[in-house]
Amino acid sequence: MTKVGIVGATAYTSLELIKILLRHPESEISYLGTRRMAGTKISEIFPVLTKIFEMPCSPLGEGKVPGDVDLVFMALPPTVSMQFVPQFLDAGIKVVDLSADYRFAEKSVYERWYKVKHTDPSHLKAAVYGLPELFRDKIETASLVANPGCYPTAAILGLAPLIKRDLIDTDDIIIDAKSGISGSGRTPTEATHYCERNENLEAYNVGVHRHTPEIESIVSLMGNSDPFVYFTPHLIPMIRGLLCSIYVQLKKEISNEEIRDLFNNLYGGEPFVRLSRDGTFPKTKDVTNTNMCEIAVKVVGKRVLIFSSIDNLMKGASGQAVQNMNIMCGHNETMGLI
Ligand SMILES: NC(=O)c1ccc[n+]([C@@H]2O[C@H](COP(=O)([O-])OP(=O)(O)OC[C@H]3O[C@@H](n4cnc5c(N)ncnc54)[C@H](OP(=O)(O)O)[C@@H]3O)[C@@H](O)[C@H]2O)c1
Repeated sequence: MTKVGIVGATAYTSLELIKILLRHPESEISYLGTRRMAGTKISEIFPVLTKIFEMPCSPLGEGKVPGDVDLVFMALPPTVSMQFVPQFLDAGIKVVDLSADYRFAEKSVYERWYKVKHTDPSHLKAAVYGLPELFRDKIETASLVANPGCYPTAAILGLAPLIKRDLIDTDDIIIDAKSGISGSGRTPTEATHYCERNENLEAYNVGVHRHTPEIESIVSLMGNSDPFVYFTPHLIPMIRGLLCSIYVQLKKEISNEEIRDLFNNLYGGEPFVRLSRDGTFPKTKDVTNTNMCEIAVKVVGKRVLIFSSIDNLMKGASGQAVQNMNIMCGHNETMGLI
């Protein structure tokens, strides 16, 4: 039995973690840490949990590391998470961090894009990027896993088979991405306000979104190249779900069938990646509330078009985090997940 804590218990991703962990036969939630709601039952914060799970939250802070925990999920914002991660690791507790604080091997890249000094460079060096389909072996023995961002998860899974075989120009990767609004977290802002988002669509953070260097750094690792990614995200008027439409330039002629074989070879044995039926394309609704990433590929002229869809709160966050926990703790990788 793995005793689990969640730090940032009031987060959207925390509620998803709780729902998954309550169905997980080999883990038990023993700690819910929050800065503001200590003493409050989690079911008062998320009424959906009333009569299902009513554990009171505990305070979060220096010297407040719980004794009875094997692994914590950090559901805190980037730049905040790294203030709390060291105290858990130093107490011998494994960490799956949902923020971006440990996703970059290069500290300077993180500091440039997040505009703060990294305060925990020693643990950053030991962190493993938690995309199981690519880094399963390293995750198995890691104490600190950096759970990938939602857009990078969909984008990297869509690109990996082509990059591993050196089939595309990595300096010409175009990613047009759309996400449900829960991707922006629970704190409302003008950009996420119902009146602004409903019946509306616009690009945001064009050319400056922080998931750009995350995608580039993993593409670079896989392909030994210096990639350039044109990444344009949009918030769409739905709560959850994410779709990346990716356009890449082929280095040589290759048929649709060969490309599908390539994807099938890499992902055939993966429990949480599937290829759409030939001629069909992924719908966000078909992966909602699951840990699945659905991908379609099609050769059009000199380009390959890739469509990759996930639930941002599941494969894009909490589902993948539990998948990582399962690997780190020696459980069946699919335990608690669909
Ligand atoms: N939402 C997604 O789809 C998604 C996908 C992938 C990754 N992520 C990442 O996962 C993490 C959690 O995301 P979320 O969307 O679930 O967040 P969220 O709903 O916005 O909740 C953020 C949590 O962080 C806590 N918090 C904020 N500032 C804090 C501080 N200074 N000290 C202590 N606690 C603080 C909040 O506590 P209070 O209640 O006290 O404010 C809340 O519990 C983020 O790093 C996010 O980037 C999210």
